[in-house]
Amino acid sequence: MFYYLIRKLLFLIEPEKAHFLTLKYLNIKNFLLFDFFFYKTKMASKNIQCMGLTFKNKLGTAAGIDKNGEYIHSLSKLGFGFIEVGTVTPLPQIGNPKPRVFRLIPIEGIINRMGFNNLGIDNLIDNIKKSNFKGIIGVNIGKNKNTRIEHAVNDYLICIEKVYCYASYIAINISSPNTPNLRNLQYGILFKNLLYKIKKKQKELHKKYLKYVPIAIKISPDLSKKELIYISKQLIQYKIDAVIATNTTLDHSSVSGLENSLQKGGLSGFPLQKRSTEIISILSKNLQKKIPIIGVGGINSIKSAKEKIASGATLIQMYSGLIYHGPKLVQEIINKA
Ligand SMILES: Cc1cc2nc3c(=O)[nH]c(=O)nc-3n(C[C@H](O)[C@H](O)[C@H](O)COP(=O)(O)O)c2cc1C
Repeated sequence: MFYYLIRKLLFLIEPEKAHFLTLKYLNIKNFLLFDFFFYKTKMASKNIQCMGLTFKNKLGTAAGIDKNGEYIHSLSKLGFGFIEVGTVTPLPQIGNPKPRVFRLIPIEGIINRMGFNNLGIDNLIDNIKKSNFKGIIGVNIGKNKNTRIEHAVNDYLICIEKVYCYASYIAINISSPNTPNLRNLQYGILFKNLLYKIKKKQKELHKKYLKYVPIAIKISPDLSKKELIYISKQLIQYKIDAVIATNTTLDHSSVSGLENSLQKGGLSGFPLQKRSTEIISILSKNLQKKIPIIGVGGINSIKSAKEKIASGATLIQMYSGLIYHGPKLVQEIINKA
């Protein structure tokens, strides 16, 4: 109830500003130890094993909430079992012109075309070090806008090398619709070449640091069944540690006629829920439990979280659901899904 009142106020503000203010508030609240005096969350602890790591529960933050790793502690205080920061790129970049985030309130959707605005991998590493956080941190990496697609692999290798000692796992984002040509990396020879080179780099760094950091690939919901079967085969062949399904969709047909539906960018939230669950089912059938799935897309209730798990997801993540339903949903999902 309290969150829905706050939400009314937040929704009067432009979405990107509201997001920033909310996270700043969480950091201040955390700093002042409000939780200690006013609020103790009761969270059932259900450890989950995935990618060789132990997660304190199944639910994590989806990439994009904390692009620069500035709110790791505050987000974990909400109860999340893991925090995925990023997407970060080798060099800082400003992203697309504002406004670039739009609410579709009646259907609990968001369209964004942020375009990997971030302060770069070095700044993210500094923030992880400063945070002193002991839980699971996934670092989601991407390529700079100005890097040609034929040289994109180098951007991923630079980030893997830099972040290897500071990440619990690394997520390779090849599915954002807001960086021109990025999604080409999901197909054919570009995909195989990427998997081969990141696996080679992982092996080299494992040997150097005597630490194995799992690597997950984040895919789009706009892939056909045939493409998903191909991707599954390659993930098994290259022994990738996990797949994250899914990123936002370019298919806006389910929201046509609504305010903001014609905005360019990736659609997330409830309108993505069914499609991302279908993708998880197809992956689950084809991966035959050889590679775990991290399910994300439109989780806005205990039921939708359970559906992702029943379809084959070992872990789940949420972004838009947090905007529309607040921290209480985090606790409900952790305790009941
Ligand atoms: C404003 C916004 C920014 C996002 N930024 C990123 C990002 O930087 N990297 C990424 O992999 N996914 C990003 N995403 C996608 C989410 O991580 C998630 O895959 C997608 O929104 C579906 O989940 P949801 O329906 O729970 O929001 C972003 C989503 C939103 C709404």
